[in-house]
Amino acid sequence: MTKREELEAERVTLQRTLDGQRTQAERNRLGQFATPPRLATSVVESALKLLPATARVRFLDPAFGTGSFYSALLGFVDSPHLRHAVGYEIDREFGNAATKLWRATGLDMRISDFTLAAPPADADSKPNLLICNPPYVRHHHLDRKTKERLQVAVKRQLGIEISGLSGLYCHFMLVSHSWMADDGVAAWLIPSEFMDVGYGLAVKRYLLDHVETLRIHRFDPTEVQFDDALVSSCVVWFRKRKPMPDQTVAFTYGGSIETPGCERMVPVVELRRERKWTRFPTKAPRPATAHAKLGDFFIIRRGIATGANGSFIMTVQQARERNLPAVGLRPILPGPRHLVTDEVLAEPDGAPRVEPRLVLLDCRLSERQVHDKHPSLWRYLESIRPDVAGRYLCAHRTPWYAQEHRPVAPFLCTYIVRATGRPFRFILNHSLATAANVYLLLYPKPHVARALEANPGLNRQVWQALNRCEGSTLLDEGRVYGGGLHKLEPKELARVPADHLLDVLPPSPAVERTPLTLFAEAVVRDAHPRSHRARPKRRRAAGKKVRRMTSRRRRPAD
Ligand SMILES: C[S@@+](CC[C@H](N)C(=O)[O-])C[C@H]1O[C@@H](n2cnc3c(N)ncnc32)[C@H](O)[C@@H]1O
Repeated sequence: MTKREELEAERVTLQRTLDGQRTQAERNRLGQFATPPRLATSVVESALKLLPATARVRFLDPAFGTGSFYSALLGFVDSPHLRHAVGYEIDREFGNAATKLWRATGLDMRISDFTLAAPPADADSKPNLLICNPPYVRHHHLDRKTKERLQVAVKRQLGIEISGLSGLYCHFMLVSHSWMADDGVAAWLIPSEFMDVGYGLAVKRYLLDHVETLRIHRFDPTEVQFDDALVSSCVVWFRKRKPMPDQTVAFTYGGSIETPGCERMVPVVELRRERKWTRFPTKAPRPATAHAKLGDFFIIRRGIATGANGSFIMTVQQARERNLPAVGLRPILPGPRHLVTDEVLAEPDGAPRVEPRLVLLDCRLSERQVHDKHPSLWRYLESIRPDVAGRYLCAHRTPWYAQEHRPVAPFLCTYIVRATGRPFRFILNHSLATAANVYLLLYPKPHVARALEANPGLNRQVWQALNRCEGSTLLDEGRVYGGGLHKLEPKELARVPADHLLDVLPPSPAVERTPLTLFAEAVVRDAHPRSHRARPKRRRAAGKKVRRMTSRRRRPAD
């Protein structure tokens, strides 16, 4: 065993020990998910190939951990070729352990918050090799002050507005820009989510406008790279150099970094137009012409987020036992797992003919009215109040037991699917049941509503046409999470090509549209499930167009 191999073996043991001393919640808070040694070696080797062979390496890992990348680097670069190596680590225990482990190698280990550190002033000290698996800390865990500080720093350095919904990894990437030497190379191991979601726009803009992006390798999400973090990840390699207008980026997917499953060179001009970069390399760039989309026929909303399904959704039997009055109840469909049929028939009273029979507690009467007129409902509300009324969604509703307004939808689509399970399903709903946020609700636009009214059998034809939407197109428009979980947000379903619906429905007056570029649509951000009160402010800020396109984003871990 070489000295380096001994140190690596020690590092791996150390990593395991330190991981074992932390709870999952603590690790989530600081994004402490180490890079597996083999992956670290591949990332380092591939990045080194992008540096001139004679270059003396000035290395930086801004989120060092125990040093998986540094350790791999020492396997490739001998000391005459390693001029300087710096690591930042916020966690004192990790930092101290790494300092001790790597002391003899000359590592400059700094135990502090990288995002607060100042980059070297002189160009010669700036790193020419930056390799990082940044902390994947979701924005919910960043306090307001930290977010604002990072947003200001990114704006000042790059002129990019970064969304408040961005995870810490996005900020890490963008604030690192000023650290890098010109022509220096970076490799970032990050969640591939940025390629598809609204907050990823700042990262995409950075990769298109500020650096020469060389390659993006996306791992197959069914082969999760980290056993302990449910994320689908990718590696982004770039050089700090102004990009040329005719630049192309190598998109690779699946397999390994060395031997990807497939590959496609994508021109930067196509990337500017494309909102969903995960379409590459498996799919070709889309034609720039406008086609009919589902959003031309339907207004699409996610189903109701109750904030406490266990308390607000119950069986009809339970509602009876609780003696709850009809005024506070609405029929609601069971989740897709329990819904065996794709056509929901109705009982004479409008209840869905499905099992289990469920109702949703949804009451707009004030507390005083409930108290005075419906004592059994009042008793039930009092029994759930301690556990439920203070929850985020409930606390932001008035009254806290009134649900979002979601009229009955004649068509629904399932919201989440597993790659290995049933594909997205469209449901034809004849009943008066509403649905929870495990479904998307499709409300006919006025010209479709008129056609449906004029022809009572048309709803079945529309449903059949909806089911002809290609499964792969639906997956393609949606977003994918680690472990092969696919989700379709309302805006994404609205973008699904739907020329075939024109076989049964009249065209929308809005079908003739000019395609927008990625950045022209920057204002159309994924809306977040906040309070009813917060919404008007966001609407005002984002403009009229956003009003019809609200959606919510949640990660599977929520
Ligand atoms: C995803 S881990 C990567 C660790 C290591 N580089 C690897 O790849 O195995 C991210 C590391 O960044 C550290 N970290 C989190 N926030 C940080 C910050 N603001 N500044 C420096 N390090 C930070 C965490 O403690 C964690 O060790």
